[in-house]
Amino acid sequence: MRSESEVPFEDQPFTIPVADRLKRLPPYMFGKINKLKYEKRVAGVDVIDLGMGNPTEGPHPLITEKLAEAIKDPKNHRYSVSNGIGNLRKEVAARYRKKYDVQLDPNSEIIACLGSKEGFSHLCLALMGPGDTAIVPSPSFPIHVYAVVLAAGNVISLDCRNPQQFLERIAYTCEHLFPTPKLVIVNYPHNPSTTCVEQDFYVGLVALAKKYGFMVISDFAYADICFDGYKAPSFLSTPGAKDVGVEFTTMSKGYSMAGWRVGFCAGNHEMVRALATIKGYYDYGIFQAAQIAAIVALRHCDAAVDEVSAEYQVRRDALCEGLQRLGWEIDPPKASMFVWAKIPEPWCEMGSINFSMKLIEEAGVAVSPGGGFGAEGEGYLRLAIVENVQRLRQAVRQIARCLKQGPDEAE
Ligand SMILES: Cc1ncc(COP(=O)(O)O)c(C=O)c1O
Repeated sequence: MRSESEVPFEDQPFTIPVADRLKRLPPYMFGKINKLKYEKRVAGVDVIDLGMGNPTEGPHPLITEKLAEAIKDPKNHRYSVSNGIGNLRKEVAARYRKKYDVQLDPNSEIIACLGSKEGFSHLCLALMGPGDTAIVPSPSFPIHVYAVVLAAGNVISLDCRNPQQFLERIAYTCEHLFPTPKLVIVNYPHNPSTTCVEQDFYVGLVALAKKYGFMVISDFAYADICFDGYKAPSFLSTPGAKDVGVEFTTMSKGYSMAGWRVGFCAGNHEMVRALATIKGYYDYGIFQAAQIAAIVALRHCDAAVDEVSAEYQVRRDALCEGLQRLGWEIDPPKASMFVWAKIPEPWCEMGSINFSMKLIEEAGVAVSPGGGFGAEGEGYLRLAIVENVQRLRQAVRQIARCLKQGPDEAE
């Protein structure tokens, strides 16, 4: 037998030495569910997919028509600017002024990103490093945790479902941790729990930020999808907010432009500059034709956004009423694209992943297991109201049929 050194180079085994930061990421929690969903589809099952907050309807025609026009101009096919074109940033400033009475300088206090998730992740990379700690809401939209982890920071997860208690826990952590947390991430209306706040929450948060010296990132992805007259407050409309933090908004949800990758970071100019610095190295900006169409969206499509929100409200009612009729304990959300449902007895003991697998397997309905959002999410399901009312009612009927069996009989 030849020794290893005698084996020709081309036949020698080779392991790719990935960076340690990649090893800090846990296995993807939704992997099993997505695999089963895919297998069912391939087998011809019409899975009703309530798994992801991915809008199905598409943007208003004014927006797509502008895109079609802008795409014909060769200059829009060149590299754009990584901060976003000036007129787009001005439109974001106008929207903040009109909707939230917030004054922002489009040049120094607003930056466009390739979807808010990209901006959020790179901002964490710009702000956090080894030895730094961030407080993150729990249950967690995964990137809120893993953007900090990938930046080599430490995470303290605090339950955010009672906003007043969340503030108290932030204060307690700041009192007892040394060095104190450098960053607090908030996300209201919250994904996945749908918890909402009023302005006084942010007043308390800004006061704590100033007292303990932490920065704030507010993820305001569901700003536009509010129900029953509720208006989600912007963190930035709190006096002093711009001294301590920034807010991310997106065109993915209210404007149904998720695939376009257009989001914004606005607020504290030093934090915006830190993000601009990192982005200046990493990217050349959003496709310019998409930025031009996004200007039209922001300028002319307020009514369309309200209609989208009204449609989600009708879907929320259909799903919540249907599940309540089955005896599920549901707190209808005031905002967001989700229903956060407690898994009813006796299925709760199965755990959220196994129960979600059962729903795909036996009901043909895909949902997100609460456990995928961290330990605080266990015992719950997140159902995205991205299918139309008929399909949501169908989903409830299929769930009802599937759950006629108890967990033992279902084996
Ligand atoms: C809380 C939250 N933030 C950010 C995002 C991502 O938004 P974008 O499409 O702008 O990256 C989502 C999408 O599901 C979300 O739920």
